[in-house]
Amino acid sequence: MLIKKVEEAINAQINAEFWSAYLYLSMSMHFANKGYAGIANWFAIQFKEEQDHATIFMNYVNSRDGKVLLAPIDAVDTEWASPLDAFKATLAHEQKVTSLINNIFSVAVEEKDYATQNMLQWFINEQVEEEDTARGYIDALEKIGDNGYGLYMLDKELATRTYTTPTPLASKE
Ligand code: FEO
Repeated sequence: MLIKKVEEAINAQINAEFWSAYLYLSMSMHFANKGYAGIANWFAIQFKEEQDHATIFMNYVNSRDGKVLLAPIDAVDTEWASPLDAFKATLAHEQKVTSLINNIFSVAVEEKDYATQNMLQWFINEQVEEEDTARGYIDALEKIGDNGYGLYMLDKELATRTYTTPTPLASKE
């Protein structure tokens, strides 16, 4: 049985993950519109990954005999001044998500919910990677500045990103 406080925190996180998905879909559509097919591809995969994160949490709630409650998803931004601006927004958002995950972990510790602490480990590691990746692209875009060729090459690099099923879902396939 999932402890109520933990269940509520995870349900809030499910909403946050779907909000993240919607944010990255919005970025993907924005950059597709601006002619950056590679950046659009990168954010489209990010969109899929965030849905996966929500699914991992939903599967977990169900496996602990809890109840998933899907709340409305708030609106997201629809415009970014530049790719650099979007990656800065991505990093800021991922840092916020990290603190949300850490908060759920704290609730699980307080409630002595060891299974939830164990499940959250994958997300804690994932957040390190998410922040590091966004930081890497911020560094690259700051070096590129207004150099059109640099932007063109980075867009080409981001076009090569492919989707892979995250481990907690792959093990269910
Ligand atoms: Fe679901 Fe980007 O963290």
